Formats: sequence, structure tokens, C-alpha cells
Amino acid sequence: MSSPVVLELDQVSVHFGGIKAVQSLSLQLHEGEILALIGPNGAGKTTAFNVITGVYQPTAGEVRGFGQSLRGLQPHQVTNRGFARTFQNIRLFKDLSVRENILIALDRTTRNTTLQSLLRSPSFFRDEDSKREKVEELLNIFSLHVSEESSARNLPYGVQRRLEIARAIATGAKVLLLDEPAAGMNGQETASLMETIRFIRDRFALSIFLIEHDMRLVMGISDRVAVLEYGKKIAEGNPKDVQADKNVIRAYLGTE
Ligand SMILES: Nc1ncnc2c1ncn2[C@@H]1O[C@H](COP(=O)(O)OP(=O)(O)OP(=O)(O)O)[C@@H](O)[C@H]1O
Ligand SMILES: [Mg+2]
Repeated sequence: MSSPVVLELDQVSVHFGGIKAVQSLSLQLHEGEILALIGPNGAGKTTAFNVITGVYQPTAGEVRGFGQSLRGLQPHQVTNRGFARTFQNIRLFKDLSVRENILIALDRTTRNTTLQSLLRSPSFFRDEDSKREKVEELLNIFSLHVSEESSARNLPYGVQRRLEIARAIATGAKVLLLDEPAAGMNGQETASLMETIRFIRDRFALSIFLIEHDMRLVMGISDRVAVLEYGKKIAEGNPKDVQADKNVIRAYLGTE
């Protein structure tokens, strides 16, 4: 029996006026899976993430998280359901330090009320300790210790991308949506990111849905790959089969 579905797109369409960015897309992400979404520029990949995360509402169809409809939810409410994402154009608090960027995301998950923090109750101290541990662990995993006091804006691109993933995990998410996590990274950084993605999947029991143009990364870590072209899914399967698929080759090379 295959593992439970954590995220489902059920015949989802997203239209912008006359532009059919996503057309009747159905996809399932299973617990513990790494699923990649690939396709040429403008194929609708980021739009698919935007409709999952509540940035857009579907024109038709339905998105379900852990079996429940996400219809009408705002992005922060989708985060509360256990879904966190990173962005193609990195979004961090640029003037805050690496550590502060992680702490802010962690603060979503602590249960302490203002009253509890004012009273410095036992649960306040417990939460503070576990928060500190969590920050340390994330700084370690993403090799961010050397730059923990730097402002996010002063970090090299690849480091900012790692920080964005650390933040997404800090929200307590069970499902990560990564929009081109390796963009702007060199070969060595990409290879190490690949290992880190696998590691965090196991360490935090995550399911991962990623958009990526770097085929080495996609083929190296994905359990399954789905391919979009002009908003439509043209292939889906294991990396090897998808890579050899005639429609996929045509979509990428523009020839039969
Ligand atoms: N808010 C919007 N308003 C109008 N059109 C949009 C909007 N967002 C996306 N589009 C259009 O929808 C289509 C899909 O865009 P999308 O950003 O999802 O592609 P993508 O597959 O992520 O491409 P890339 O690989 O370049 O990031 C494009 O034609 C784009 O111009
Ligand atoms: Mg995109």
C-alpha cells in the first residue's frame, strides 16, 4: 500500500484573463515523497505553487491538504495547515540577521501567550530552550553558523536560498514547496543542496514538492517527476521514464 496523500491537486485550472496558466492539473504528493515539477519557462509551475499556497484561488478544481480543501484560505492559513514554501525570487527579511530570520519563523510555532512570557512561566522557559536548540540544529544543517549574525541581504545568493529553506522548516511545516532551490548555485553547491534536501526529508519527516530547472538535481533526488507544458501535465512518472518520454523531449527541444 502506498503512503497517504498529503497534497492533492484535483483538476485545477488557473486562468488570468485569456491566459490559461494551469489547465486541469491533477497531481498527488505522498507522505515522505520528493516530487519534482519541471517544464519550460512559463509552463505554469510557479502558478501551481501559488494556487496551492493561497496566493491565487483556482478558476476550477480543488486543492486539498491532508484531505481537506484549502479553498478560500489565505497564504498564512495554508502555512498553518503545514505547508511552507520558498520563492523563485528569494523572500527574506533582508535587514535581519540569519538567526533572526529563523527565529521569526519559529515564533509561529510556539504556544506561549504574551501573558505566559510576561510571567516567565515554566512553559515559557521550556519553549525558549527548545527554540534555541531548533535554531542551532537548522544553522548546522544548512551550514549557516558562520553567517548567523550577518544581515540576510549581505549573504551570497546560494546561502540566502539555504536560509529560506531553513525558515520554511522552522514554521513547523510538514510539506515543503521549493521553487527553484538551486537557481544561481554552482555545481558543488547544488550537489550539497541535494544531500541536504534528502537529509531534511528524513530528519523532519517531510514531504517535498520542488520546481527545478537543474536536471541533475531533479533526476538525482526525485521519487517522481511531473512535467508541465503550456499549463498542462504532459508526463508523470519515475525520473528515468520521464527523461526518455517523447513528449518531454519535444517540449524541451521543440522538435519531434
Ligand atoms: N498574476 C499573473 N497575471 C497574469 N499572468 C500571469 C500571472 N502569473 C503568471 N502569469 C502567466 O502564467 C504563465 C505561467 O507562469 P508561471 O510563472 O507559472 O511559469 P513557470 O513555469 O513558473 O515559469 P519559469 O520557469 O519561467 O519560472 C505565464 O504565461 C505567465 O506570464
Ligand atoms: Mg516559475
